[in-house]
Amino acid sequence: MTERRPIVAGNWKLHLDHVEAVHHVTELGMRLRAMDVASIDVVVVPPFTDLRSVSSVIEAEKLELGLGAQHVSEFDQGAYTGEVAAAMLSRLGVTIVLVGHSERRTFFHMDDATVARTAAAALRGGLTPMICVGESEDERADGATDEVLARQLGAVLGELAGVDAERLCVAYEPVWAIGSGTAATPEDAGSACAHLRKLAEQHLGEAAASLRILYGGSVSADNAAELVTPPDVDGLLVGSASLTPAGFAGVLGAVTDCYRSSRRSPRR
Ligand code: PGA
Repeated sequence: MTERRPIVAGNWKLHLDHVEAVHHVTELGMRLRAMDVASIDVVVVPPFTDLRSVSSVIEAEKLELGLGAQHVSEFDQGAYTGEVAAAMLSRLGVTIVLVGHSERRTFFHMDDATVARTAAAALRGGLTPMICVGESEDERADGATDEVLARQLGAVLGELAGVDAERLCVAYEPVWAIGSGTAATPEDAGSACAHLRKLAEQHLGEAAASLRILYGGSVSADNAAELVTPPDVDGLLVGSASLTPAGFAGVLGAVTDCYRSSRRSPRR
């Protein structure tokens, strides 16, 4: 039996400075103490400038909260003004990093080859890359979803020969669902994640069964439980609903209730 421990990660994007972040994580910690989230990995993904402060709160309060970063350099060190290396993040207590989020691909021209090199750099620096993939609205309308996912995931896994599937994560984030208020249906999210697992098998073999694949895009406390119901969806990447402690706790509560009920078991 393969065990895939679910992850719910809150991507703050370009929101909350380090002072706001301390308040946010302190309140989130209090809410988490009153909940039973032991069956899932909970991760916050703040801007770079918050990482040190957030990691201090996590340590001081002994919170069961993982720390993620939103981006990392494809380079380990050198004359690359403005870049932040994976090893630097790792030293701050960061364990996971988003790679190839659609906003990086769209606004910062990150192509598939750069995503692949960045994922490799994350692994070299001791971080788990969360590789974000997903089709645009036009690609979806053209029926090209499967092809886009194959291209995006193939570009990365093709560069990571021999990688341990447990040191990777994938997030299926349809671009049209991000920030739009319209999430994918659980059926569509489930079939895209199942397709991604099949694609991953081509590179990882049987180990693809232990790869964690998340859904992201307009996740809320209202739709979170149904979105983690399909068997190939191993958690959620949450944007705007993670910007308040109450909002994120609402999503976490819905997900843990779902796993506690007979609908879904985290250990399969
Ligand atoms: P959203 O963002 O939940 O606000 O749609 C998700 C994401 O971009 O990771």
